[in-house]
Amino acid sequence: MNQQEGTIMEKKRVLVAERISDKGVEKLKAEANLDVTVQFDIKRDELLKVIGGYDALVVRSVTKVNEELYDAAKKLKVVGRAGNGVDNIDIDGATKRGIIVVNTPEANVISAAEHTIGLMLASCRNTVRANKMLEEGIWERKDLKGIELYHKTLGIIGLGRIGALVAKRMHAFDMRGIAYDPYIPDSRFQRLGVEKCETLDDLLKQSDIITIHTPKTEETINMLTAKEWAKCKKGVRVVNCARGGLYNEQDLAEAVKQGIVASVGLDVVVDEPKPISPLIGMPQCVVTPHLGASTFEAQDKVGLAIAEEVINVLNGKMVPNAVNLPAIAATELEDLRGYLRLGEALGKLYYQLTKDPIDRLDIIYEGAAAQQETQMITRSILQGLLTPVLRERVNMVNAELAAETRGITVTEGKVKGEGRMNRIQLRFGAGDKSVTAAGMVSPDNQPHITELNGYHFDVIPAPYMIVARNDDKPGMIGQIGTLFGAGHVNIATMQVSRKKEEGAAMMVLTVDSLVDKATLDIVRNLDGIVDARMVRL
Ligand code: NAD
Ligand code: MLT
Repeated sequence: MNQQEGTIMEKKRVLVAERISDKGVEKLKAEANLDVTVQFDIKRDELLKVIGGYDALVVRSVTKVNEELYDAAKKLKVVGRAGNGVDNIDIDGATKRGIIVVNTPEANVISAAEHTIGLMLASCRNTVRANKMLEEGIWERKDLKGIELYHKTLGIIGLGRIGALVAKRMHAFDMRGIAYDPYIPDSRFQRLGVEKCETLDDLLKQSDIITIHTPKTEETINMLTAKEWAKCKKGVRVVNCARGGLYNEQDLAEAVKQGIVASVGLDVVVDEPKPISPLIGMPQCVVTPHLGASTFEAQDKVGLAIAEEVINVLNGKMVPNAVNLPAIAATELEDLRGYLRLGEALGKLYYQLTKDPIDRLDIIYEGAAAQQETQMITRSILQGLLTPVLRERVNMVNAELAAETRGITVTEGKVKGEGRMNRIQLRFGAGDKSVTAAGMVSPDNQPHITELNGYHFDVIPAPYMIVARNDDKPGMIGQIGTLFGAGHVNIATMQVSRKKEEGAAMMVLTVDSLVDKATLDIVRNLDGIVDARMVRL
């Protein structure tokens, strides 16, 4: 249904449940097809009560987007996380339901890196305590001696976006940078001018100051406990502007009491937003209430970015920052579009031509097709294949999971190299039977179907198509042409392909409108027609 057909398009509903910038809200509200509710800091009970009516939910780090919420959110298509970390969002739960999760990983990293440095300086120089003492009328310097950063060794755990920005900035202080991150190539350490630590222990032993920039995962929760603090230099200084609980809070507080850790700068605690960490109130600790991204610049960027992502998802467009889809640079998306349309069209063909349930799908990407983000194309093929046969929503997010759940084994092969044809070949296996299909994308990004079960064509997928199998004998084309002409079905294109040795042929017609069942039955009964099916792409 669309507005051109004269019907009123139902507006998609967006709930903004945590504070984002005015610019972000305005951008959402400016979309004519969206109905936007802004209810910052909505109570959990109320959220669970109303979420069933929304297509999109925008949150920051406080709202727990979990099974309880998904169960109530029957219409939800997209969760927009205005920020970076997605540890408050159950990604698997979203994926299972075909809900796209988008975030804004780049928008606040500069602010977070700068706040890390601010916390480092403040905690190493007792800035906050000094200010508090002055407010209490005490002018005292004796106990407030700090340390210089100059020529100190900074140990960075996690050298991703923020870790790298911190590393770059610390060169200005003439610090020595070392880092532990087993998931990135050596070249990244070299490029950032930091020495690689093969183990966490390596980093602990050498660092004067430790800063952590990993995501919160099963592996990183409690990454530093009493055992790790015991391996550090006495008087080590520590900062955490990533996530609460990466350093075990109780053990860190104990290490501070024992003088193992001399100072702590924290932006994050375990029980946010409750101010109940044992580190809050210790004189050696500076703690801020998750302010890393709280700058005007970051919030404007985050608000605008999340609004744009949510709008794009609701308008059916591809988005570069989908957390539960393969990462694709915005520049690659344009090239990929033709392949995605081709993949979906090839996938959709199968169950419209046969009813045999498939247990295997082999895909071969050749030439230019093999250079693309093929995981995405595979998902589009599966989406096309399964959408007509499954009750639940199948999309790019959950297509692989839906295939797996149905017992379909999917294999992907790639044939690269000079002069290879730009082609995607599919073999749909159903027990001992199989159906093949193939296609390519032309330089103008147009998908073409080039093969169906061994018959060769060059057909641009169209909304209404007829695929007919017939005997290879004179008069077949004429019969169908006459019949459709009498039934006022306008044939846009018609192609015939044959296998000479079998005396069999296949016709693919694109038509301007749906052909009704009665007309199709007449086609099927024509002399020499073996089968004829309406295909909607
Ligand atoms: P990122 O994904 O770019 O980088 C994370 C890095 O951690 C990656 O290089 C990864 O390889 C590494 N890593 C993962 N597991 C590791 C392990 N076990 N040991 C060592 N390294 C490991 O993330 P980012 O954008 O740099 O964000 C870093 C953290 O900062 C995240 O936790 C994010 O949520 C948080 N963050 C906080 C604020 C704030 O307001 N305080 C703002 C933005 C981001
Ligand atoms: C983030 O992950 O982006 C930060 O923690 C900031 C925020 O949650 O707003």
